[in-house]
Amino acid sequence: MSLPEYQKVEVTANIPYPVFLGAQLEALGEYLHSQFQDVEHILIITNPQVAKLYAERLQKGLLVDYRVNFLFVPAGETEKSLERLSQLTTAALRFGADRHTLVIALGGGVIGDLAGFFASVFMRGIRLIQVPTTLLAQVDSSIGGKVAVNHPAGKNILGAFYPPRAVWTDFTTLESLPWEEVENGLAESIKHALIEDSGLFEFFETEEESLKRRDPLIWREMVTRSSTVKVRIVSQDEREQGRRALLNLGHSFGHALETEMNYRGVTHGQGVSIGLVAAAHLANAKGLMTMAEVDRIKRLLNKFGLPTKITEIVETTIKDPQVLLQLMQADKKNQGGRKILILPHGIGRAVISKECTDAEILDAWNQVI
Ligand SMILES: NC(=O)c1ccc[n+]([C@@H]2O[C@H](COP(=O)([O-])OP(=O)(O)OC[C@H]3O[C@@H](n4cnc5c(N)ncnc54)[C@H](O)[C@@H]3O)[C@@H](O)[C@H]2O)c1
Repeated sequence: MSLPEYQKVEVTANIPYPVFLGAQLEALGEYLHSQFQDVEHILIITNPQVAKLYAERLQKGLLVDYRVNFLFVPAGETEKSLERLSQLTTAALRFGADRHTLVIALGGGVIGDLAGFFASVFMRGIRLIQVPTTLLAQVDSSIGGKVAVNHPAGKNILGAFYPPRAVWTDFTTLESLPWEEVENGLAESIKHALIEDSGLFEFFETEEESLKRRDPLIWREMVTRSSTVKVRIVSQDEREQGRRALLNLGHSFGHALETEMNYRGVTHGQGVSIGLVAAAHLANAKGLMTMAEVDRIKRLLNKFGLPTKITEIVETTIKDPQVLLQLMQADKKNQGGRKILILPHGIGRAVISKECTDAEILDAWNQVI
């Protein structure tokens, strides 16, 4: 079966850039050649596991025109650190990197955030291409220009808005992705559907089996539709002054849960999934959503193996929602001590709410404990 040609959607932010959906790794070299005549040196930042699977295909298109060096970063969230950034800098300089060097981030969100942050500060900024290889990175983290490393005080504390010159998405890289990693991306994709694409929500409902079978055409459509939601939202509000905050739907609850569990025994996708359900219950209490819609969300998440109650995550013993409420106090998105929450408004629409009381939030937590 031959797949359709790639699609190009444009992020129309302050500095516009294209997102190529369904492009081939082998063809990136040709694209770079057509766009950046002054580039001679390329640094590919990736991890050994991803490199083993995809470096050769990517390199195929690059070797004729460029001097190419690899910088390998072990897998794991802890690699998003200042120490790793410093090591990357040393290695890049040893390879003779200069202001004309172009960085390719080949990997999931960890590589995208770290390599992106490196590109944003190396010699005050060098060009960056995102080549996302996880579902989460394809539908979410590679689009929108947020790059960051972590600090002992918190996740993504040191970061920047640094748009890539292009996002080059090859769907075939998803074939090797373990299901647990797929779930992290699915949680974000379902979130996108809830925020502004009720048709995508229905698509998830009707295409459950094909998605689980990883039917390439169905996956292509799902990733395309979901990343297009992200493209639209960040194009409207690149710097998160307003509408972009909607993308935090489920995350204030999810982050509190992840923090309470010390990021062990709960994946990001599971945190988001439970967060979406808590936000849906809160929306129901506020009259923004019917109970039938809340149940529809729960059914969909469950269909894909995502939890809708904390007790479904075996390792946890959380019983007291007060602890979780306290953790939400520290959310970066809060303003002047007021909790800013994103609530679904029916399916396919979301709103920013500053009006939720602690009692209402506690009630929502109790629904998912
Ligand atoms: N910048 C943003 O806007 C943004 C948005 C959401 C999340 N993030 C960040 O993204 C990170 C999470 O990203 P992630 O979920 O992609 O995790 P990840 O980058 O840690 O990748 C998960 C695992 O999948 C492996 N992997 C990657 N591609 C593969 C492939 N094609 N086949 C097989 N294995 C593969 C990796 O080696 C890794 O072990 C977090 O650090 C989060 O903060 C950033």
